[in-house]
Amino acid sequence: MTTVRDGLGRVDLRFEPSGRQVRVPEGVTLFDAASWNGIAIDSTCGGHGTCKKCKVQILAGDAPITALDTRAFLPDQLKKGWRLACRVEVHSDLDVDVPPLETRPKAATVGVGRKVILRPAVQKRHLLLSTPSLSDQTSDVERILAAMDDLELKVDLYALRRIGKLLRADQNSPGPEAGVTAVVVDEALIDLEPGDTSERIFGIAFDLGTTTVVATLLDLVTGTPVAVASKLNPQQTFGADVITRISTIMMDERALERLTGLAHGALDELARDVCREGGVDPAEVYEVAVAGNATMTHILLGIDPEPLGMAPFVMTARKWPEVLASDVGVRIHPRARAVVFPALGAYVGGDIISGLLASGMDRDPRTRLFIDIGTNCEIVLASGERILATAAPAGPAFEGAAIRCGMRASTGAIEGVRISPDALELRVIGDAEPIGICGSGLVDAVAELVACGLVDRSGRFVAEEVAARIAPGVAARLTTVGAERVFVLHWRGEASSSIYLSQRDVRELQFAKAAIATGWNLLLEDAGIVPGDVQQVLLAGSFGSYLSPANAVRLGLVPKLPVLRVVSAGNVAGEGAKMALLSIRERAGAMALLEEVKYVELSDRADFNDRFVELLQFPTAGP
Ligand code: FES
Repeated sequence: MTTVRDGLGRVDLRFEPSGRQVRVPEGVTLFDAASWNGIAIDSTCGGHGTCKKCKVQILAGDAPITALDTRAFLPDQLKKGWRLACRVEVHSDLDVDVPPLETRPKAATVGVGRKVILRPAVQKRHLLLSTPSLSDQTSDVERILAAMDDLELKVDLYALRRIGKLLRADQNSPGPEAGVTAVVVDEALIDLEPGDTSERIFGIAFDLGTTTVVATLLDLVTGTPVAVASKLNPQQTFGADVITRISTIMMDERALERLTGLAHGALDELARDVCREGGVDPAEVYEVAVAGNATMTHILLGIDPEPLGMAPFVMTARKWPEVLASDVGVRIHPRARAVVFPALGAYVGGDIISGLLASGMDRDPRTRLFIDIGTNCEIVLASGERILATAAPAGPAFEGAAIRCGMRASTGAIEGVRISPDALELRVIGDAEPIGICGSGLVDAVAELVACGLVDRSGRFVAEEVAARIAPGVAARLTTVGAERVFVLHWRGEASSSIYLSQRDVRELQFAKAAIATGWNLLLEDAGIVPGDVQQVLLAGSFGSYLSPANAVRLGLVPKLPVLRVVSAGNVAGEGAKMALLSIRERAGAMALLEEVKYVELSDRADFNDRFVELLQFPTAGP
């Protein structure tokens, strides 16, 4: 069991009595490793080495005795493997026994089935302070810090300005609302509030997408979502995708300021919406987390994204300094912080880091592929010791753009298609009259046409006489608009005014799927594994959530695997942002991903083009 690693890898930990096995980056503490994986170890200091409650017994493996261990345990206990979990840095595989807890910590299930033990950066303490007198002239701050038993706590100037008045008011009118509540974020006292407000702590998780912005108000005491609101990203008037927005900034020097202002306005408006809906005063929101792609994040912070738009695609920074919510336009508590997710590369941004956190890609021993499908498709492969990431330019097909009858996934969009030799069935958003096709409808339509033989492996519509023979009930839908062959999905008089799929649309999808498949094929090759080794494919992003796993397999968008291994992960970027608010350990996990994930650039690979051309073909019959 004692396998010492090379200093760069991961180690396997087994926790008894549950028998849970987890894989974590070497060098993290046992306490953090357990906490990241939803395994609770007793603690009142949160891993700071002051409470001596995090006692565990090492059953197998190496865990050197630290100075603090010698003060917490008797020599005999040390010999039997007892250690303080927050002092054990894991450098080899360990078997650990975790004693039952004295108090059960609160936990929330977030992300892709991840259990998060609540340990937000924001903490509150209700304090009843002694009254000063001529014989006790202790300063207000010292009185507070002594009551909190933490003389090292930093105190914000904002808090200092309010403390005196609040304490005098409290001392002059003691009653049922007596006392004050200290608001601490990380290691700093940011405010003092009258009375006991310790049950009112809120945070907002933002998913800042190129198309849509979503805000979730979270109760950080219970770990539950209180309200959710979303809106279209108002930057859309400057272009639908990041490249257009970067181009706008390149051409107009005032555009960055305007785009930044629009992002700030969107976050602030959503913050107000969720607070109103949740019955929460914005001043009770002490922290926000923002997950967005690298361009959205640069713009949000007012940083020129121009270098992201051209080779060699350099970011200004991968990690961001500590910023206040007010720096990103969100008017909540004046000292509220904003946690902005770091990015791995220009095209694997904070939204993907957030998604990886939410799906536990770094903590699962299985070989997993994470695919976020959009104009830019991000692909991450986690297998054994390695996590590899890349980005593939899929183009606008999935957004409905560049498709003749394409549209966004909104009311009237065909989102699902079933085609048999005799009939065609459509699923339309809002059960409305069809007015166009969105990305998932496009994937479904092409997959069904390939499956019933109306589109051949090369992506061409078959000849009309072939169609009449193999699919007599729908063959008449194969017709022409101008010089182009089309397949009509919904008749509206003439073919030209109907909702149809054109030969060029099929080609667009082929290009997109070939780019994505080239991405994961090359990652699998780099990791030395074959598609059949993949144990789970997670389809992330708003588009991925609507995609039919069966059709994703049929088209070759994902490896040819049993459909049950392909799952929709939902909005994982938003889930990761929530986790960062609920747990400082999860937040640290996101930062650790920056070091753990290796970015693989595909655009300069000699084999990219050959592979791309090979993968333009649609695969033969299903798995
Ligand atoms: Fe408090 Fe380890 S968690 S001493």
